[in-house]
Amino acid sequence: MTDEDLDAVARDILTSNDRGGYTIPTAGLYPFQWNWDSAFAAWGFSTFDADRAWTELETLFSAQWTTGMVPHIVFHQEDDGYFPGPDVWATGTTPATSGISQPPVAAILARLIHDSVGGTERLRALYPKLLAWHRWWRESRMAHGIACVAHPWESGRDNCPDWDPGMANVDTTGIGPYQRRDTGHVDAAMRPGKEDYDRYLAMVKFGRDCGWDQEKIRDDGPFLMGDPAITFILVRANRDLAAIAEALGEDGAVPAAWADEMEAALPWLWSESLQAYAARDVRTGTFAGTISSGAALGLLAGVENAAMEEKLAAMWDRVRYGIPSNDPATPSFEPRRYWRGPTWPVVNALIAVGLKSAGRIADEARLRRETAELIRRGGFYEYFDPMDGTACGGDQFTWTAAIWLAWANREDA
Ligand code: SER
Repeated sequence: MTDEDLDAVARDILTSNDRGGYTIPTAGLYPFQWNWDSAFAAWGFSTFDADRAWTELETLFSAQWTTGMVPHIVFHQEDDGYFPGPDVWATGTTPATSGISQPPVAAILARLIHDSVGGTERLRALYPKLLAWHRWWRESRMAHGIACVAHPWESGRDNCPDWDPGMANVDTTGIGPYQRRDTGHVDAAMRPGKEDYDRYLAMVKFGRDCGWDQEKIRDDGPFLMGDPAITFILVRANRDLAAIAEALGEDGAVPAAWADEMEAALPWLWSESLQAYAARDVRTGTFAGTISSGAALGLLAGVENAAMEEKLAAMWDRVRYGIPSNDPATPSFEPRRYWRGPTWPVVNALIAVGLKSAGRIADEARLRRETAELIRRGGFYEYFDPMDGTACGGDQFTWTAAIWLAWANREDA
């Protein structure tokens, strides 16, 4: 297949995963609207249908809570092929949603979309909603000035070893029997394990039992870890929001100050033993034991630390394709198990935005070339084995198609 053929396939994946105003990540495995998936879908749509790109973001924000939180899943329609569904979350919202959030990439992508295809009035309407969401992160998910996650699903990098210290302390007593659906759609060896799921459900139970009181979840919940990835993403997203404000003729001083404050708090996430920014358990102070793709997002926030960059370069050189989600040098590395080793085109694209901002043109080109090669060889899968390129997880995947269109196959991206 030529790259032009792949462009057509990618556009077809986006339009066939379109459920009317929102896009599902992939049929079967993920049949609803996912937060950060949608932001990347919008970027993909912007390459051939600008109106549809803005609609994707508008639909996502139509499910924003009055608190400002934008939930990680919006259950627009019923589908019992996914677990845990709206009955388990029981948030009582309309539309039904999950009770946690996901990486706040929307402002970053909204700015890129606006820069390439315009849509100022659509962006103007989104601006206060983006600001309210960023404020929610600050009020409900901060500790030591760092953005934290109250559930590994909130990080978007579910079973990454980053979360192992916090996961070890989650009590699963009282989690009755349940039936997973994900392993009916894809190979169980490429998904999180049963012990992980028990703990994921214990955290959902805590949220449900406290009526999704987000401050209680932050202060007393079973899990709270500082996340380098979300911290870097939020620093960048706040700076982009400040730039958006300026473009709209508004005052961006508030998000700009939020970004500066978070950057000043970064020392709390610095692991001396890893010589990198790393996930850290707020309850115990324990650092994650491995460097991950989270650290590679530092450049997105303008954070360039020579010691960490050396570690990240070595990690990249240990694989053949893309930035791995976990360092192959650690025993926890599993090249095909979801976030414990595979490379994710969507994360590579985000890292590339950082590389470009840092002027690392050759590295950006290498990452784009390696990601494009994975897609050319394996198709539009969810993630890939970084050692041999084996395609993993869900097929016909929205964000992989979007990344192909908006970045991987574009010299001018
Ligand atoms: N990624 C999670 C899942 O696999 C939920 O966001 O179901």
